[in-house]
Amino acid sequence: MLFSRPSSTTVFFLASAITTALASIENVSLLPTPPMGFNNWARFQCNLNEQLFVETADAMASNGLLAAGYDRLNLDDCWMTHQRAADGQLQWDPEKFPRGLIWLGQYFKARGFHFGIYEDAGNATCGGYPGSLGYEAIDAKTFGDWGIDYLKLDACNIDPFTAGHYKQLYRKWHAILSSSDKPLIFSESAPAYFSDTNNNTDWYDILDIMPENGELARHSDDIDIYDYYTAAEYWESIMTNYRNNYRIARYQQPGFYNDPDFLIADWPIPLDERKSQFALWASFSAPLIISADVPNLTKDEIAYLSNKDIIAVDQDALAQQATLVQQDANFDVLTKSLSNGDRLLTVLNKGDKTNTITLDLQRAGLPQGSTVTAKDLWTSQSQSITNQIKITLNTHATAIYRLSGVKNVTPTGQIFNALSYNCLTASGNVATFGTCEAASSQVWQISPRGLISPLSNPNKCLTAQNGQLSMAKCSPSKTSHQWEYRLTGNLFNKNSNQCLVEGDSGLTTCGFELDSQVFGLPVGVKVVRT
Ligand SMILES: *[C@@H]1O[C@H](CO)[C@@H](O)[C@H](O)[C@H]1NC(C)=O
Ligand SMILES: *[C@@H]1O[C@H](CO)[C@@H](O)[C@H](O)[C@H]1NC(C)=O
Ligand SMILES: *[C@@H]1O[C@H](CO)[C@@H](O)[C@H](O)[C@H]1NC(C)=O
Ligand SMILES: *[C@@H]1O[C@H](CO)[C@@H](O)[C@H](O)[C@H]1NC(C)=O
Repeated sequence: MLFSRPSSTTVFFLASAITTALASIENVSLLPTPPMGFNNWARFQCNLNEQLFVETADAMASNGLLAAGYDRLNLDDCWMTHQRAADGQLQWDPEKFPRGLIWLGQYFKARGFHFGIYEDAGNATCGGYPGSLGYEAIDAKTFGDWGIDYLKLDACNIDPFTAGHYKQLYRKWHAILSSSDKPLIFSESAPAYFSDTNNNTDWYDILDIMPENGELARHSDDIDIYDYYTAAEYWESIMTNYRNNYRIARYQQPGFYNDPDFLIADWPIPLDERKSQFALWASFSAPLIISADVPNLTKDEIAYLSNKDIIAVDQDALAQQATLVQQDANFDVLTKSLSNGDRLLTVLNKGDKTNTITLDLQRAGLPQGSTVTAKDLWTSQSQSITNQIKITLNTHATAIYRLSGVKNVTPTGQIFNALSYNCLTASGNVATFGTCEAASSQVWQISPRGLISPLSNPNKCLTAQNGQLSMAKCSPSKTSHQWEYRLTGNLFNKNSNQCLVEGDSGLTTCGFELDSQVFGLPVGVKVVRT
């Protein structure tokens, strides 16, 4: 069945494209740092009501979470009635919300919270309630009238299921929201519906337009909901969304955030795993939205969720998303810069036992021989370190250090294919792709001119000459050494006008977000929109 209304929709876009500049990366002031708050979905699903939200608000106001920055209370699916009112408006379920959503919003606001809500871009929500298709303008006005300033727009029940159709519907919503005097913060779920397949082209195609159309994008499946899964499945769900997040770091910039979904703070999994999720999400400057039974959170849970130093990393003004320095079977190491010049160092032990890593600071982008102060953000202990840091971690635990006294950072880390996860590896006069194993031939430094050289041999640069990829002595002025990283994920060479590819000769004609040509690079490399 088709639900498109081609003529009116097309006219609408042409007219609105000229006037929209209010939201998303076009106006960073709407959401300069990622949102923090609470959402009922992962913990309670459709069992939401006034009492849950009132008790959650009261608890957050008294247990320190509001003071720590968690100031958004977001309703998810199932808040409404199964029918719209005669005038087309959505209606709250009066049994779940006896005093109504306007009252609830005022209750939130009086205590210092923002009020967020959920709808769906299709003809029905995932839970089977009325969708917004054809009612977009009415619904946007209703939400504004109710005192709501944040919309999570889901993407169930959209037919036809094509990237083009999803893009069209989300652009339409953006145009409506940004033409209002008080645009709602727009959380876009569209990409989640195209994630985790063996062909990422459609996923990237939709992600491409998310930064200019909203403030955050749900890029992956929901975090596994409470009580239905095993502990191992919960950890794998966290890891899946974590991996998806680092595959698409290139999209994030102030005003737009990749959203790997909720913090599952009181799930039946080890505290180390929950703390890892928090530390990794903060390293990404990802949204920190808790889904938990907040009034019953333990002291330990509240303590980690309100860690000021880690929240400061999440809310840092640069909003950089940490990227991978190196990976092997046990450890992932990530880094990014912070607005005061400090450098972040985050280390995850993926292994199933306690492991120790000794890490050269050069890998985090610092000059060789650097002496810095490393503050462990879990313990608040600082130590002076030169050249190397040694870290021992429990299984599935994450260390997070803030390095200060840092000078002359160079973007440094893995260059990996975002589908195969294989790493670009220097080897003599060639460069090929192989399993990531934290080798110095797989950790690359990228200069401001786009020269790319491995730590194993800093005098050799990735080179595109005569249609061949090679490693050759660096000569900064040669375009055969100059690479441009594009928002599409392509690594483009200015001499050959070709793109890096995993396979064949390593170079080929640039295609549109073909999996063999989409790469993750270290944060700090300029990302070019083409
Ligand atoms: C940017 O957004 C802020 C907050 O919504 C608004 O006050 C301001 O007018 C917007 N600026 C532009 C140029 O759209
Ligand atoms: C939405 O569309 C489907 C078919 O794609 C239909 O079965 C369903 O009844 C529709 N739901 C609503 C609420 O209109
Ligand atoms: C991947 O998907 C895109 C878009 O749907 C398509 O054009 C392309 O042919 C697919 N690639 C492969 C290898 O199937
Ligand atoms: C909190 O814990 C108490 C005691 O175990 C329980 O009765 C109550 O239902 C819990 N709260 C929620 C919202 O589940």
